[in-house]
Amino acid sequence: MLSSVDLNNGERTPLELGRVLAVRGSEASIGLVEWSWTNPEETRTTVGQFLGIRGHNKVIIGVVTDSSIQGLPVARERGYAVNVSVDLMGELRTDAKGKVHFVRGVTEYPSIGDAAYLISQDELKAIYDISSKATIDIGSLQQDTSLRAYINIDEMLSKHFAILGTTGVGKSSGVAVILKEILDGRPDLRVFLVDPHNEYGRCFGDRSQVLTPANLRLPFWLFNFEEMIDVLFRGRPGVDEEVDVLAEIIPLARKAYASGERATAGRRSDSRGYTVDTPVPYRMNDLVGLIDERMGKLENRTSRTTYNKLLMRIDSVTNDPRYAFMFANANVGGDTMSSILSQLFRMPTEGRPMTIMQLAGFPVEVVDSVVSVLGRMAFDFGLWSDGKLPLLFVCEEAHRYAAADRSIGFGPTRRAISRIAKEGRKYGVFLGLITQRPAELDPTIISQCSSLFVMRMLNERDQALVRAAVSDAAANLLGFVPSLGTREVFAFGEAVALPTRLRFKEIAAERVPRSEAVSETETDFGSTVDQAFIDQVVDRWRTATLSSRVRNEPVVEPEAPAAAPPRPVRGARDLQLTLDADRYKLLKKSAAKG
Ligand SMILES: Nc1ncnc2c1ncn2[C@@H]1O[C@H](COP(=O)(O)OP(=O)(O)OP(=O)(O)O)[C@@H](O)[C@H]1O
Ligand SMILES: [Mg+2]
Repeated sequence: MLSSVDLNNGERTPLELGRVLAVRGSEASIGLVEWSWTNPEETRTTVGQFLGIRGHNKVIIGVVTDSSIQGLPVARERGYAVNVSVDLMGELRTDAKGKVHFVRGVTEYPSIGDAAYLISQDELKAIYDISSKATIDIGSLQQDTSLRAYINIDEMLSKHFAILGTTGVGKSSGVAVILKEILDGRPDLRVFLVDPHNEYGRCFGDRSQVLTPANLRLPFWLFNFEEMIDVLFRGRPGVDEEVDVLAEIIPLARKAYASGERATAGRRSDSRGYTVDTPVPYRMNDLVGLIDERMGKLENRTSRTTYNKLLMRIDSVTNDPRYAFMFANANVGGDTMSSILSQLFRMPTEGRPMTIMQLAGFPVEVVDSVVSVLGRMAFDFGLWSDGKLPLLFVCEEAHRYAAADRSIGFGPTRRAISRIAKEGRKYGVFLGLITQRPAELDPTIISQCSSLFVMRMLNERDQALVRAAVSDAAANLLGFVPSLGTREVFAFGEAVALPTRLRFKEIAAERVPRSEAVSETETDFGSTVDQAFIDQVVDRWRTATLSSRVRNEPVVEPEAPAAAPPRPVRGARDLQLTLDADRYKLLKKSAAKG
C-alpha cells in the first residue's frame, strides 16, 4: 500500500496512511489502515498533525482535528480501522523549477479514494519556512522543534494583532520576543508600549526610553474636554452645571492664550474659533480668571456655589503633586506640542525607536485619561502626517482600556483604541493588544485584529470569543487551547501561512518582563522578611493614601503646598516600589470604608 508522492524531487517517499472516504466543504474524512496507528512514533496520527492528500498535480494540506475508531462499516470491511477528520488548509504546488510552494486555500478538493500521507519535514519546511525580509523568527514549531516559526511582520502589523491567554502563560514574555524581533527587523518603525504594571523597563535595553510620571510631561491643555472633565472630577462623572461652565470657558482660555501669543510673537492674526478640544495651549490662571470674572457678575448665590466648587476642584487638582506631570508650568504657557510628540513617539528615533509608558506610578484615577490622550495623539499624528512615520501602539491589559461592557472604563480611551483598530492602518498606526480576558475586551476591536496569538485559555467565554474571531477551519484547532503549555501559542490569521502551534523563544532571565513593584529577589514567602521591609510597605501604604507623591525623582512642582509633606526616601530599594494601579484602587476602597 505504499505510494510515492513525487513532491521533493523524489527525495523521500512518504508513507501512505489511508484514503479519503468522505469530503464535506473544507473537511475531509480519512480512513487509516490498521498499521498506521499501531506503528512507530513517526507515523502516529493525532489531532494537530498535518496530512497531505495527493491530488492532481498538487498536494492538499490538511490538519487533523478529530481522530476516532468509529467509522463507516463499509470502511471497516475494507481494512480502514480509524477515522480521522482533517480541515483542508491549503496546497503545496511544485513550480517549473521543481520548487515547492505553499498556497493558502484549496482550489481543488480531494476525491474519494485519494491517498493521504504524513507530510515530510521538507514539506513542513515549505509550508512554514517563509523566512525572508518580511518575516521575523519568534520561536520554534511545536510539530518539529528543529524548524523555526516565522511570522510575516508586514501582514501582522498592518492588520493589527492580539495576544490572548490566561494569566502566567507567557503573554508578556511573548510580547517581549515579538517586539524585540520587530525592533531588529523594522528599525524604521516606532513602537509605543503601554505598560500598566511597569514590567518592561529592562526588556529592550538601550533601544527604549522609559516614561514615568517623573519624566513625562503631558500638559493639561493636550487633554480634550472629556479627558479634562475626567481629570478634574477624578474619574467620576462631572457635575452638569460645572461641566457647562467649563465647556464655555475653555475655548475662551485657549483663544486668549493664542491671541496673546500672536501679539507677542507677531503671528498672522486670524479669527478661527477655538473649540474645547483644539489642542492649543492655555494657561490655568487664564481659566481661573475667566471663572472669577463670570462669578463676579452673578447675583444669585446658588449659581455662585457652582463656580466656587469648580474653582476648588481646579485648585485641588492643580496643586496635587501627583498631577505634576500635567500641571507643572500650568501658568507659564509655551507651545510645546511638537517637542512632546517627538519625545513620546521617538521622532527622530535616535537609536531608540521605542517608548515604554509605565503607568503604575500615576494616580489611579487619571490613568484612563492618560491612555486616552496618548492613544488619541498617536492616531491623530498618523492622520495629520499622512502616515509618514509608522507607529506600532501596543497596549497591555487591553480589556481595562477597551472593555466590552460600556459601563466599565472610560469611553474616550475605548474610542481612542477603537479608532486605531478601525482606521489606523490607513495612517500608519498599528495596534497590538494583550489581554488575559478576551471576553471582556470590546469585540469590535478584537475583530479588527487579523493576527491572533492564542495561548492557554480555560474560560469557555474566552474560547468562544476567539472561536468566533477565527475562520471555521481554524476554529476546530481551538480545542487544544486549554492544554497549551507555558510559552506555547497558537498563531492564527494573516501573519502565518497556516494556523501554527509554536513555542516562543526563550528570553534571558534578566530580560523577562517582571513587575518592578515586586521584589527582584525570589519570593520565599516569609522566611526572611525583615522589619525594614515591613516598614517600607507601611510607608508606601501611607504615602499613597495621603495622596502624597509616589514618585522616584523630584519634579518641578506648581507653586503650591503639597497635600502632605513628601516623605524621605529610605534607600535604594524604595526606588523600585512604585504602586500598582490595582493595589491603589484596593487601598482607596479600604480607606473609604474605614
Ligand atoms: N519566552 C519565555 N522565556 C523565558 N521565560 C518565560 C517565557 N515565557 C514565559 N516565561 C516564564 O513564565 C513566567 C510568566 O510569563 P509572563 O509574565 O510572560 O506571563 P503573562 O501571561 O504575561 O502573565 P500575566 O497575565 O500575569 O501578565 C515568566 O516570569 C517567566 O519566568
Ligand atoms: Mg503579563
